[in-house]
Amino acid sequence: MDFIPYGKQWIGEDDLRAVAQTLESDYLTTGPKVTEFERAVADYCGVKYAVAVCNGTAALHIASLALLKPGDRVLTTPNSFLATSNAILYAGAKPIFVDIQENGNIDLDLCEKMLESAPSIKALYAVHFSGNPVEQEKLAKLKERYGITILEDCAHSIGAEYNGIKAGSCTHSDASIFSFHPVKHMTTGEGGMVTTNDEALCERLKILRNHGMVKTPGMKPWEYEMRELGFNYRITDIQCALGLSQLKKLDDFISRRRQLAGRYDEALQNHPHIRPLYPYDGRSSYHLYVVRIDFERLAIDKVELFEQMRAKGVGLQVHYIPINKQPYYKQLGYGNEPTPRMESYYEEVLSLPLYPKMSDKEQEYVIQSLLEVLGG
Ligand SMILES: Cc1ncc(COP(=O)(O)O)c(C=O)c1O
Repeated sequence: MDFIPYGKQWIGEDDLRAVAQTLESDYLTTGPKVTEFERAVADYCGVKYAVAVCNGTAALHIASLALLKPGDRVLTTPNSFLATSNAILYAGAKPIFVDIQENGNIDLDLCEKMLESAPSIKALYAVHFSGNPVEQEKLAKLKERYGITILEDCAHSIGAEYNGIKAGSCTHSDASIFSFHPVKHMTTGEGGMVTTNDEALCERLKILRNHGMVKTPGMKPWEYEMRELGFNYRITDIQCALGLSQLKKLDDFISRRRQLAGRYDEALQNHPHIRPLYPYDGRSSYHLYVVRIDFERLAIDKVELFEQMRAKGVGLQVHYIPINKQPYYKQLGYGNEPTPRMESYYEEVLSLPLYPKMSDKEQEYVIQSLLEVLGG
């Protein structure tokens, strides 16, 4: 059996054809496929506007420049990829790391307590970790009661739904971001998107994506004006053609991910020292399948488990190392926040392979290998 990684893309003949057609067209970048992809993702999420960029980090960067001011204090989670809080730093703002709940998401009740005691806090960056959305009614309450800016990092959660609210719809937030990296639900190679219901924000994001340049109808044909310091964060039409083709299959990809997650739950339920991060939940779009393992009661530790699984041809991963404990963040004075749940979470968790192309046989092999190594 080939090596089974923790995540990977699924590219079909239809994707290859879509990319080839765009390669043969007049536009490789800044053409019709970009706007088509933006419209299609916006419609899928039920949001008014979408701005496609070259990766999820770029999406976070320009959204942060547009939403935050230097010095703003922003509540966020230590349980994410570095990019979420790095973007707050890019904007000259200050992340405040809040502890997580048992399901790996930021604890919004704790956020409320912090907003009560420090009303100067300006914003909240929430991640729908592993594809499991944070409580939307709590987001609504925080926005209404404290008037904060909210960004939803939906890099794990395209297709997830919480009481009819789709991830990326920005129902109770100012903006959402997506990543289309190959391990995510659908891919453009590298790619990202910001969604919003705010037209002015959308226009600003488009300017930031393209060097801060503006072209208006009264200008001479060659003219453009640089109004602020922007970037080249454009995505190509080639990537967007792939994204459009992948989007057609997204719901099938998610169904398969959910099916595999349900099967992991079933297969592992009788093991005394392993449990899913949360019991099977159809609202999650399952970017990741995370388990907690009680290593204190086992003969092996996490490093040995990783090594023995790798020797059997199975890749594991840990999502995530607490961001506030990273050397760069420690140098900025972070690392001693009261985040006891994040700390015990990090000791116990790992992500098992999960991707739609994984066959039943491959999943059975992963489960059997895990139970053998753990002794169950
Ligand atoms: C939660 C989260 N936010 C943001 C990003 C950044 O996305 P990208 O890798 O496309 O820059 C990632 C990527 O892993 C992520 O997992």
